[in-house]
Amino acid sequence: MVTLLYVKNLKKSFGAKLAVDDIDLQISRGQLIALLGPNGAGKSTVISMLIGIMKPDSGEIRLEEMSPQESHYHRRIGVVFQSSVLDGQLTVRQNLNLRAGMYRDIGSERVSEVLSQFSLTKIADQKYKTLSGGQRRRVDIARAVLHHPDLLFLDEPSTGLDVQTRRMIWMILDRLRREDRLTIVLTTHYLEEAETADFVYVLDYGKIIAADTVQKLKKAYAPTRLLISTLYPKRLQSQFPKDWRVAVTSTGLSIAVPDAISCIPILSRLESSIDDFELRKGTVDDIFLTLTGKEMR
Ligand SMILES: Nc1ncnc2c1ncn2[C@@H]1O[C@H](COP(=O)(O)OP(=O)(O)OP(=O)(O)O)[C@@H](O)[C@H]1O
Ligand SMILES: [Mg+2]
Repeated sequence: MVTLLYVKNLKKSFGAKLAVDDIDLQISRGQLIALLGPNGAGKSTVISMLIGIMKPDSGEIRLEEMSPQESHYHRRIGVVFQSSVLDGQLTVRQNLNLRAGMYRDIGSERVSEVLSQFSLTKIADQKYKTLSGGQRRRVDIARAVLHHPDLLFLDEPSTGLDVQTRRMIWMILDRLRREDRLTIVLTTHYLEEAETADFVYVLDYGKIIAADTVQKLKKAYAPTRLLISTLYPKRLQSQFPKDWRVAVTSTGLSIAVPDAISCIPILSRLESSIDDFELRKGTVDDIFLTLTGKEMR
């Protein structure tokens, strides 16, 4: 795969506080990348450096051959900030026109096209400050993709939005990925967002503590577990080979299994000692808990 964005040894401190500690990223065209981490992990600081509004202390950032100091770089990226940068007194259309005016080749037809793409036509003449949170977010994203960027940065795109609005935003982003081959880098606390990513960087205290596909992260840190209720957990545990991950819980046993099918022989062998059982799939929450010992939220 062709690398679109290359980041090496990125560092940033605020006084004595090391906010970003030697981060490497490699992002290919068309990918959806998630930076997953708790409050204060350094996600926004990384994004600020990648979009060129904050200068790293050291390290390298390249979008193909360009660095964030070059104006060409900015033509190729779109940004949705954690808090909005639009003018509340202006209408949706005025905000987008203002943005379009910054580019020589983007006219009012493109603004109309984006308005309809994001289902904003009906509220186009409403002042931005009167919109709901979900409507605002759609306008924020519409503004960010107005100039057909290759790479879209979204800092916590759906924090504070309800499930329906989140889904709607996801459908729009999905379509942009399919139709325009848009590459997306987002930061999130939400599990469902990280789960849709092609590749996840898990951040904690400014460091990448894991980097892999969701599938591989789950396999390593959040396996599917067969939970068995039994009165004899210790005795049953001793019957498993040493290399199995079998833990005694308050109600019985928790057994890491590769898949659902592999539970059938276990259950039939232990049948006479089992009161109840349940199969629990691993989540991104488990991944975080295993890696850091802390809950995500
Ligand atoms: N301008 C600044 N001056 C001083 N410290 C800062 C500044 N910006 C960020 N920090 C600190 O750097 C660390 C990383 O902050 P950052 O905003 O990047 O975290 P985050 O992962 O985006 O968190 P959240 O999920 O809450 O948005 C925090 O400890 C924060 O207090
Ligand atoms: Mg942040």
